[in-house]
Amino acid sequence: MSKILVVGAHGTVGSSLVKALQRRGRQVLRATSRPVASADDVHLNLVTGEGLTAALRGADAAFLLAPPGHADQHALLGGFIDTAQAAGLGKLVLMSAMGADADPTSPLRRTELQLEASGLAWNVIRPNWFMQNFNTFWLHGIREQGRILLPTGAARGSFIDARDIAEVAAELLVGDLQAGQAFDLTGPEALNHDEVAVLLSREAGRDIRYTEISPEQMLAGLLAAGLPPDYAAFLNLILGYFKLGHAERITDAVATITGQAPRRFADYARDFRDAWR
Ligand SMILES: NC(=O)c1ccc[n+]([C@@H]2O[C@H](COP(=O)([O-])OP(=O)(O)OC[C@H]3O[C@@H](n4cnc5c(N)ncnc54)[C@H](OP(=O)(O)O)[C@@H]3O)[C@@H](O)[C@H]2O)c1
Repeated sequence: MSKILVVGAHGTVGSSLVKALQRRGRQVLRATSRPVASADDVHLNLVTGEGLTAALRGADAAFLLAPPGHADQHALLGGFIDTAQAAGLGKLVLMSAMGADADPTSPLRRTELQLEASGLAWNVIRPNWFMQNFNTFWLHGIREQGRILLPTGAARGSFIDARDIAEVAAELLVGDLQAGQAFDLTGPEALNHDEVAVLLSREAGRDIRYTEISPEQMLAGLLAAGLPPDYAAFLNLILGYFKLGHAERITDAVATITGQAPRRFADYARDFRDAWR
């Protein structure tokens, strides 16, 4: 049976994607940069290129993302696309990020353009900011201080649940949808961080508030958390775009592709409530 290679298979989107593909009766090869622990896992390191050819040799289609922490995503992903092209991969779905196409020189956009020109059957998905950031990246401030600390002012974001991104990716990998299209993926509503804090407080049963911080404070916090300086600067840059209102747009792509309305923030907060208790 045909196999689908999932890069980032043990991560936020990838772990949901593996389940979504298995529910559709597909065999999955789970890529990992760690030592392989199960017969469904395959070793693949995007930084060194180790395992690329072997992993792609066993697959008919693939899902590709850039692991966080790397500001030059093109340096990380370009070799994967070249190898997929050489291997004659049947289809490649690339997860980029909403807004990446605004700047033709950005590493993510250059990766999208390389894929579009590759001759492979492709789709690009560009999700907005994930709801799951509140139980991962922003969790420390929420747990320790009851504060969401971000430099985003009162701007709103149409946050998307990573589980909906995974459903979209699964449909694009196995469904009849046309290749050669890019989709901006968002949730069904745009909320600011005060509104997010209200929803989290309700589920957590404790007082959680949003406090705006300056970009300089944000950068210092990211560096103190051990992020590489260029990646911390990249995150700060795109948080600045959030503050300017670029994360507010709402699209209907999730419902169009999956036939299901995307999850609301309240659904996410209920399902992940244990994270903030
Ligand atoms: N968070 C957001 O709001 C947001 C919004 C839009 C777009 N995005 C995009 O989403 C992507 C991240 O997705 P995610 O949150 O699902 O990722 P994630 O949970 O951080 O998982 C990424 C996975 O990549 C694997 N990995 C790490 N280093 C690797 C390497 N050198 N080679 C191969 N695999 C490696 C890790 O698994 P192993 O340890 O098993 O290798 C990890 O589980 C980023 O590209 C980001 O730009 C994020």
